[in-house]
Amino acid sequence: MLDIAFTKAALPKTGVLVVALAEGAALAGLAAALDTALAGALARAIEGEKFTAKKGQSFTLISPGAGFKKILVIGTGKPDAFSARAAEELGGAIAAALSRESEAAVLAETIDPTLAAHIGLGARLRAYRFDKYRTTQKDDEKPKLSRLAIAAGDPVKSRAAYAPLAAVAEGVELTRDLVTEPANVLYPAELAERAEGLRKLGVKVEVFDKKDLEKLGFGSLLSVSWGSAREPRMVVMQWLGASGIAKEEGAKKPKKPKEPIVFVGKGVTFDTGGISIKPAAGMEDMKWDMAGAGTVVGLMAALAGRKARVDAVGLVGLVENMPSGTAVRPGDVVTSYSGQTIEILNTDAEGRLVLADVLYYAQERFAPKYMVDLATLTGAIIVGLGHEYAGLFSNNDELCEKLAAAGKLTGEPVWRMPLAATGESYDKNLNSDIADVKNIGGGRAGGSITAAQFLQRFVNGKPWAHLDIAGMAWATKDAATTPKGATAFGVRLLDRLVADNFEG
Ligand code: BES
Ligand code: MN
Ligand code: ZN
Repeated sequence: MLDIAFTKAALPKTGVLVVALAEGAALAGLAAALDTALAGALARAIEGEKFTAKKGQSFTLISPGAGFKKILVIGTGKPDAFSARAAEELGGAIAAALSRESEAAVLAETIDPTLAAHIGLGARLRAYRFDKYRTTQKDDEKPKLSRLAIAAGDPVKSRAAYAPLAAVAEGVELTRDLVTEPANVLYPAELAERAEGLRKLGVKVEVFDKKDLEKLGFGSLLSVSWGSAREPRMVVMQWLGASGIAKEEGAKKPKKPKEPIVFVGKGVTFDTGGISIKPAAGMEDMKWDMAGAGTVVGLMAALAGRKARVDAVGLVGLVENMPSGTAVRPGDVVTSYSGQTIEILNTDAEGRLVLADVLYYAQERFAPKYMVDLATLTGAIIVGLGHEYAGLFSNNDELCEKLAAAGKLTGEPVWRMPLAATGESYDKNLNSDIADVKNIGGGRAGGSITAAQFLQRFVNGKPWAHLDIAGMAWATKDAATTPKGATAFGVRLLDRLVADNFEG
C-alpha cells in the first residue's frame, strides 16, 4: 500500500520532487525556491519544453542539480477546473509516472488543503496492486513507490480531509481484492467469511447458509446454486451510524435501523452459465461476476471506516452457477421468496434470480428509504454503453439525479436507461405461459432492460435503482485512478451519494 503523508511546506534537500503547475501560473512558493536552488534551470526547462501546464502534460528532469534525483513537472490545467476529481487524477498520474521510485515529495503548498488530500487519494487508488500470487517477480520488475509526501500549506487540515478518504480507499481496495480473487479461492462461503471481517469496524454481520435460505424460502436464489458443490450464502451487513451503533459507548443500541439506505449486490462467484453454458472464450471473466457483491462489501467498509452518520444496510446474494447432474434445467419452475413462481428458460440469466430473492427480503425486512442494487447483470449493457457508463434503471427520478450527480463528482458516470411499468411495453415480454414470470423474454433486443424489468417485478414500489455494472467492473487498460483489473466501480459513487444526501 502506498503511504500518503502530509508534511509542512518546506523544500526537501534531496530526492524526487513533483512540481504541479496550473495553466498561466508562474513558479511560486516552494517551486520558486526550487528554481532558485537550481539557478533557474527549472524555469529554463519549462520554457524549453514549451510546457503550458495543460491537464496531464508533463516532463521529467533527471539529475537537475543541487542534489535532487529527479523532478516531475506536471500540469493541472485551468485553475477553475481543478476539482476534487481533477486533483485525484493528478495524484493518479503522479503515482503512475513515479512507480519505479520508492519515495517522492509533491510541492503542493499553494493548492487548497482539501484538494491536496484528494491528490493523496488519487495516488493511493492508482498505486493499488494485487500480487499475492506472484512468487517469481524480480525486484527490479516490481513497482516500488511506497511513500508519497505531500508538502501542504496546511498539513493539519489536509490530514483531517484525508482521514475519511483513506477509509474509502480501504473500501475500494477491499472490493478490488475480492473481485480479483480467482473463483477457486473466493466461493460463496469464503466471500461471506471476508464480509465477516467488517465486524471489527462495528458493522453487524449476519451470514445465512443454505439451510437458513431453504427455511426462508429463497427458491429462486437457491436454484442457481443447485449445480455447484459450493453452498450458497446471503450476507446482511448493518451499519447504524445514524441511530446509534456507531455512537460512542453508553449509547443505547437500537435493534433495527430506521428507514435505512439499502444496497444489494449480485454475488455470482463464478458464472459458467449453468446448463445454458457459456462459450469457452472469455469465460474466465466470470470470476468477477460477484463484483456487485464485492462493491457492497467494500462500500459498507468505507461507510463504517469513516463512521458515516447514516443507517445503511448491505445485502449480498452469493452463489456459484455451475452445470452438473443436479443443476437447474431450462424449463424448471421455482418459487421465489416473494411467492411469485419463475419459469427459468435460460440458466445463464442467473443474476436476476439471485437478486429477486435478496431485493424482496431487503425491502420486507428493512423498509428502506432508498434501495440500490449493483450487478454485472448483462452483456447487453456493454453493447449499449461500452465501458464509459454504468446502466442506471430506476422507478424514481430523484434517486436517479442524486446518483448521476454523485457519479460525476467521483468519476463513475451512470446513464439512465428506460424502465416500463409492470405489465407494459418491455415488461410484457416476461409473462410466462405456465408461471408468474419467466427469466428471459423478448430475445436479444433490449436485453439489459428486460433484466431490469425482471428485477422490478420483485420491488414493491419503494424508490429503487439498479446499476448494471457489467461494462465497468473490470478494466483492460489503466485509467487515471484505476490500474487495469478490478475497478471497484460504485464504491466511491455510493459513498458520495450517502455523504451528500443522507448524513445529518
Ligand atoms: N454475468 C453475465 C453478464 C455479463 C456478461 C457480465 C459479460 C459481465 C460481462 C450474466 O449472468 C449473463 O450471463 N447474462 C446473459 C443474459 C442472457 C442469457 C439473457 C447475457 O448477458 O448474455
Ligand atoms: Mn449468466
Ligand atoms: Zn452472471
